[in-house]
Amino acid sequence: AVVRRYTFNVARVSLAPDGVTSPMIVVNGAFPGPTIEANWGDIIEVTVNNQIQGPEAGTSIHWHGLLQHDTPFMDGVPSVTQCPIAPGKSFVYRFKADRPGTSWWHGHFAAQTAGGLHGAIVIHGPPQNGAQYDVDIGPVLLSDRYHIDYRTLIQGYLSVPLQLIPSDSNLINGKGTFNCSTTSLPCKPDAGYSKFMFQSGKRHLLRLINSGAEGLQHFTIDNHEFLVVELDFVSIIPFKTNKITLSPGQRANIVVQGTGKPSDAVWMRTDIDPVCATATNPKTRAIILYETADHGAIPNTTATPYTAVGCTTYELSQTTPVYAIAPPPKPATHIDLDITVGVNDTGHTQWYMNGSPFRADINQALLARAAVGDTAFERPEWNVYNFGSNSSVRMLMRNYHISPHPMHLHGHDFWVLAEGHGEWDGSVVNPSNPIRRDTHQVLPMVDDKPGYAVIEWEQDNPGIWAFHCHIFSHSSLGFYINILERQADIQDTLIPNAVTNSCTSWNEYAMKNE
Ligand code: C2O
Repeated sequence: AVVRRYTFNVARVSLAPDGVTSPMIVVNGAFPGPTIEANWGDIIEVTVNNQIQGPEAGTSIHWHGLLQHDTPFMDGVPSVTQCPIAPGKSFVYRFKADRPGTSWWHGHFAAQTAGGLHGAIVIHGPPQNGAQYDVDIGPVLLSDRYHIDYRTLIQGYLSVPLQLIPSDSNLINGKGTFNCSTTSLPCKPDAGYSKFMFQSGKRHLLRLINSGAEGLQHFTIDNHEFLVVELDFVSIIPFKTNKITLSPGQRANIVVQGTGKPSDAVWMRTDIDPVCATATNPKTRAIILYETADHGAIPNTTATPYTAVGCTTYELSQTTPVYAIAPPPKPATHIDLDITVGVNDTGHTQWYMNGSPFRADINQALLARAAVGDTAFERPEWNVYNFGSNSSVRMLMRNYHISPHPMHLHGHDFWVLAEGHGEWDGSVVNPSNPIRRDTHQVLPMVDDKPGYAVIEWEQDNPGIWAFHCHIFSHSSLGFYINILERQADIQDTLIPNAVTNSCTSWNEYAMKNE
């Protein structure tokens, strides 16, 4: 196979994506980071050099949505699939581009993603049924932006009482503008918007990615409808809409018909839902220019009105995969997982899954222990769930909190069988072909009824896989479990030294609870 090689130098920088100069942590000095591009089946090799200074910190990179079949140690979860990459050290990730479509890579150490450590992944594949287009516009990253260092965010999460700091602005492909009179930081007004080129009469593929830390994004294009053709990595039977909503971690490929005139300039918009995220400036825009529009044209189009209800995305019945895979009529095993939040004896806020928050073991990656048959790490504080050699797992999540939670499972797609409020009646939406994704929002509690989501996956991928809320303040505060999958089949002979060596010499760099 062809090997696609990248070098990622991770370092702290000061950048001003929205005009406000503030601290970030990025790859190769730029934000957003480089787009990884490959063809389906290629090998991707990324050398990550930890050049973080002032102060030093560990790091690691996760390749969201890629399955890492036979390479669970390349999944990039510090303390779980590898030791954190120590300052001055490097780690070479090598894994297969195992599915075509749109995704993203991001830091998995502390809240480094929120500090800017992320970028797109585009894996080209055969044209997917129903997804005809003429022009690939490429990634469109939607991300909330904080003007403070990610470590300050973490300090807020860890303080008593909890301090949640709202995002300062919202960006499309790393650009946006900010009202300089509202900050004391160095600020350049009208920092500018991202621009995209459209052609009248042509069909444009946009690869939308919510790479933000918290905000649910409502995306629209003035005067344009579009077809949604892929969700996460799954090709779906296209549905038409004028607004798509993505939670952090989710992606959508959309095809936009160029219905404008050749001279048109049009706003693209994304709004963070103010009900389910704290955002000081939730709205941002980008510019779409048709082929003969003046390069400096500023659109004067008006926003598409939409209604957003209770932080929800879209109906499960709208989302049918092109290629049907039916879940087994009965799962091999089943678990109920209750999501709650509370304050512990020291006054710290914590998120609990079945009563327990996750804490990392910074001394050795759990995968290294699992690979040699160790089970001693299956203690409650490490939140490891071992489903043995069962062929499939069904999980009923119940959310006793007033916000929705974008739940992401590593190493898998899962089927989403049902969702709602209160008691699940056992019925499955679209039982012969339910939507499969890697990130799905469990609904919020409404009128004292927990929101629920029923998901199921096949245990076809031996390893240890993170399952967590993709809102960074939540995962940082324990909203996280590990799924130990078919321990007997994890091949310890494959596990590289960088994973099996004790992490002790590295942990002086690991900030507590990061
Ligand atoms: Cu995209 Cu564990 O994360």
